[in-house]
Amino acid sequence: MNTNDWVAVCRVEDIPLMGSRRVARGQGAPVALFRTADEGPQAVHALLDRCPHKGGPLSQGIVMGHGVACPLHNWTIRFEDGCAQAPDEGSTPRFALRIVDGVVQLDAAQLATLGADLPLPVAGPGAKTCRGSC
Ligand code: FES
Repeated sequence: MNTNDWVAVCRVEDIPLMGSRRVARGQGAPVALFRTADEGPQAVHALLDRCPHKGGPLSQGIVMGHGVACPLHNWTIRFEDGCAQAPDEGSTPRFALRIVDGVVQLDAAQLATLGADLPLPVAGPGAKTCRGSC
């Protein structure tokens, strides 16, 4: 796949200010798109929808400044690099994106492979479904 291929996933206004939108993939955890309140109307960030702590769904968290608080144990993950805010440690993959005429596009190669081998979130919409043994 050409590394210059981009996939249109939604319009910027489809992502609520200080909110998120999930983008499903063929495999692995979804991508979580976020918008902040103070970076202008075109500011969008894309992280794997999987907290580096125990896999919580970051798309269900609360956007605070330039990061998101995980809904499970409240770690804050920074948008700029996907890293947990100290004293917590770890990071979640960050996806390259571009915005063309108000449309958010993700790098096709990253969308297909980045973080696809990591376990799915343990809670929320992306969690594995119980098959009756739990
Ligand atoms: S799973 Fe995100 S803080 Fe624990």
